[in-house]
Amino acid sequence: MRLHVVDHPLVAHKLTTLRDERTDSPTFRRLADELVTLLAYEATRDVRTEQVDIKTPVAATTGVRLSHPRPLVVPILRAGLGMLDGMVRLLPTAEVGFLGMVRDEETLEAKTYATRMPDDLSGRQVYVVDPMLATGGTLVAAIQLLIERGADDVTALCLLAAPEGVEVMERALAGKPVTVVTAAVDERLNEHGFIVPGLGDAGDRLYG
Ligand code: PRP
Repeated sequence: MRLHVVDHPLVAHKLTTLRDERTDSPTFRRLADELVTLLAYEATRDVRTEQVDIKTPVAATTGVRLSHPRPLVVPILRAGLGMLDGMVRLLPTAEVGFLGMVRDEETLEAKTYATRMPDDLSGRQVYVVDPMLATGGTLVAAIQLLIERGADDVTALCLLAAPEGVEVMERALAGKPVTVVTAAVDERLNEHGFIVPGLGDAGDRLYG
């Protein structure tokens, strides 16, 4: 597994406003959308392309287009939905699958309550979007499912990560073709499984 923390002043600026408790839901949604587009730019650096011949009004030339099969974007419900539009704006031809997962507030264990994805992901590049990587349980379960279905390149985009969650992922997904792209790795998790300093509960701030 590879971790990529996006170091860019615009990313840091938007993330700071997201963290601020005074930021209201409409602003939070807009900023999350803008931030995911910046993260997606970095996360799609290795998106597969193929060569294509075209003619400009002046001359023939070669360029690239996205390869087949199309990439799959998977938001993890509910909070991941807040990152979907920003992601498909950059990859408009991507297919979209859905994973509904919720973390038990007591045990912090991730439970899957909905799956709507192609059964066969052989040879597919998959982009999973979920704002928070806290204990890592949700993303590990989601990515293991994608790999079981044949995905051979998985990139997870998170607005924020906790070092504990990154470590859990590194252990569980060692040697797997997985990249995590995030705007920041924060200090730690608190006893309730919240990222510190974090930005609170992303699902509640987006949709609560
Ligand atoms: C949050 C978040 C992640 C998960 C991260 O979702 O969006 O999916 O928790 O936690 P973990 O790394 O410890 O597994 P939540 O369970 O609150 O559901 P929601 O998106 O429906 O609000």
